Amino acid sequence: MKLPTMRVLDYQKIGSSLNDMASNLSPEERVARGSYPENLLQAVDNLFEQEKNYPEDSYETIFECNTMFPLQRKREMDRMMEIARSISPQVIFDIGSDKGGPAYAFCRALKPKRMICCEVRGTPYDTRFVQHFPSTDFLFIEDSSYAISTRVQVHNWLGNDRIDVLFMDGDKGAFNKDWTTYKPMMSSKGIVLIHDVSEPGNPRGTFLELRGQYSHTETIIDTSESTEAMRREAEGIPQKNMYEWWLRHWKGSYATVGVIYLDSKKK
Ligand SMILES: C[S@@+](CC[C@H](N)C(=O)[O-])C[C@H]1O[C@@H](n2cnc3c(N)ncnc32)[C@H](O)[C@@H]1O
Repeated sequence: MKLPTMRVLDYQKIGSSLNDMASNLSPEERVARGSYPENLLQAVDNLFEQEKNYPEDSYETIFECNTMFPLQRKREMDRMMEIARSISPQVIFDIGSDKGGPAYAFCRALKPKRMICCEVRGTPYDTRFVQHFPSTDFLFIEDSSYAISTRVQVHNWLGNDRIDVLFMDGDKGAFNKDWTTYKPMMSSKGIVLIHDVSEPGNPRGTFLELRGQYSHTETIIDTSESTEAMRREAEGIPQKNMYEWWLRHWKGSYATVGVIYLDSKKK
């Protein structure tokens, strides 16, 4: 169904007024507004500086960074990137961008032409990303992924382009809403990556439902890093960094990624 033009314009206004509010604040004020660690912007700058010593497509530095480490297991992320790379994605959408860790990994590993980062607590690192990845066209949205204004903003920004990779890691009670909102904007060869599918809840429920509708799916589960971290803990070896603390704390639960290949819809 086509939305009446007036309503679309209203939604655009709502979306842009939210972004205007944020753009009146300094990046530091936006860090505080999103309850991010105080040193987030410094961490982003350090990360960009450090990467010079690493291969061009590597993102392991985020796991070594005590501020920006992603809430994901690295080996699972490696597989996720490998899967995403298989379709040479031009447009990637990261829902629940948090401190920017996975967005950084996507940009480094896959060099998308266009990238959307959506985070309800804000993306105070946005101008830094724009400067650092000049060949990627970014859309940063500081609002809920399934708000109508966000949907309209994404739709308008995409124009004739389609989302090739959708990474869902935002509102853990509403992955089904993210799916129904963005499925119509995805390319036919698209890949949906659903984080946290191992524990009961909406992410798992959404994945199981989609698994029934598509014949090509995958569940990425690799808890080997957690096992290794717990073994080091049992041996009394101090944790190397915050990522290792996180691995020890969660003891192999959470993380995991459900993968749906959209070109495999069952008839
Ligand atoms: C588990 S964290 C994501 C972690 C991130 N993907 C990573 O690996 O580091 C979930 C994030 O989603 C954000 N979030 C929650 N509800 C959201 C919504 N409706 N729209 C966008 N982001 C949302 C939260 O603020 C939080 O930063």
